[in-house]
Amino acid sequence: MKIKNICCIGAGYVGGPTMAVIAQKCPHINVTVVDINEDRIAAWNDENLDNLPVFEPGLDSIVKEARGRNLFFSTEVDKAIDNSEIIFISVNTPTKTYGKGKGMAADLKYIELCARQIARVSKQDKIVVEKSTLPVRTAAAIKSILNNTGHHVHFEILSNPEFLAEGTAVNDLLMPDRVLIGGESTPKGKEALKALTDIYANWVPREKILTTNVWSSELSKLTANAFLAQRVSSINAMSEICEKTGADINEVAKAIGMDSRIGPKFLKASVGFGGSCFQKDILNLVYIAKSYGLDEVADYWEQVILINEHQKQRFSDLIVSTLYNTVSGKKITFLGWAFKKDTNDTRESAAIKVADSLLSEQAKISVYDPKVVAKQIYSDLDYLKTRSSEENRNLLQVHKDPYEACNQSHSVAILTEWDEFVSYDWQRIYDNMQKPAFVFDGRGILNKTELERIGFVYYKIGSGA
Ligand code: UDX
Ligand code: ADP
Repeated sequence: MKIKNICCIGAGYVGGPTMAVIAQKCPHINVTVVDINEDRIAAWNDENLDNLPVFEPGLDSIVKEARGRNLFFSTEVDKAIDNSEIIFISVNTPTKTYGKGKGMAADLKYIELCARQIARVSKQDKIVVEKSTLPVRTAAAIKSILNNTGHHVHFEILSNPEFLAEGTAVNDLLMPDRVLIGGESTPKGKEALKALTDIYANWVPREKILTTNVWSSELSKLTANAFLAQRVSSINAMSEICEKTGADINEVAKAIGMDSRIGPKFLKASVGFGGSCFQKDILNLVYIAKSYGLDEVADYWEQVILINEHQKQRFSDLIVSTLYNTVSGKKITFLGWAFKKDTNDTRESAAIKVADSLLSEQAKISVYDPKVVAKQIYSDLDYLKTRSSEENRNLLQVHKDPYEACNQSHSVAILTEWDEFVSYDWQRIYDNMQKPAFVFDGRGILNKTELERIGFVYYKIGSGA
């Protein structure tokens, strides 16, 4: 099958960067990214590349190169579907907030709407690729919708989970550890697998492109994220023991990471993992296990999330107990709001829960994040519905200048590991803070000796020394 046009439904953190890289590497293919969100599409089309809706290092130059050549962003969803031989589905799949599976199962309504739209519009055979992280067997549901509605054209469904991590998305896409494609082993299924493999082969070595069946592909994505999140929860659980015993979690991580069977990555103790995938995918896994009556398996994976919640809570508890058991009316500065550095994404960021907990203790919070805008921070808090949006705006201020955010503060808490925090003038920050001045380093990035020399009382996650 000759592929000339690709369409991607959903211009978010996955769809945008992934399609930009495909367009850059395949100038012979037209790539159209569509979204129902007009503001988002307008931002992708903005002349000023600083206004792209997704911040990712290196993404702006790729968009600059390909946009208008063979990369297009549009709200005309039907037209793009009709024109394309391959359609990627890259819409959001949040955890359900209602009904059966509430708080656990993925909400598939956006996926189903897409499938129905594809079925309604398509007049020729198409390959439909599920890119969004989805519960196992979603492809079967998509297939059933596609084949039982519409114009009776043939749809081949592939699963092609995305393994990019935010903040390093461009590199992950340009040099992936592997590309995974799941499809059926029928002749048409094999043809579709080959068509998608050939696209990636424009820049990914063929031995790194794995093909498998659809269910294995879907489950591999959940498993990869569950294993990664489990490592973070494991090191975070050890960080609490370190704090009690006087050990240092960085030393422990270094020592175990040199064991080639364990390896050094994903062993950084933190205030808790965030992001749109880890929690959602584990909850999916727990839900699947429970629905098959595999209660022990479900409990095992659920513990990864419980430790993560515990880590966030104990960070906020530490701040309260250290500040003489009351933060009421005290100014606490958050450096960082994004769930990790080099992204403007705040989904499930630890900062949200820690802030919510401190605001419930009537603290006044000042936030500085190099990439997250005030509107997003307030919307993250309002979403929790713990207090009115007016109260949130009274109690929490967002600053554009980090020094201003720290001015007259009782304590600074590091919530995101942005590089720039390390090179701040910490003497200047100290001079303008209330004394004693505290730093709670939730990411373990600052220099303890230096801060203590200045006069700070310094707490690092995972260190009792
Ligand atoms: C993750 C997966 O890594 C990626 O393959 C998948 O496609 C999507 O989900 P992402 O959520 O973007 O990517 O970021 P990741 O780098 O995995 O970090 C997730 C969270 O774990 C962040 O909050 C990060 O700060 C935290 N983390 C990560 C730690 O606290 N310690 C670590 O050692 C590593
Ligand atoms: P992800 O991190 O998975 O990329 P995002 O929330 O960043 O998730 O992006 C998903 C995008 O999908 C959003 O911009 C949303 O507007 C879009 N979307 C959801 N449903 C549809 C639909 N039926 N048609 C077009 N776009 C959709």
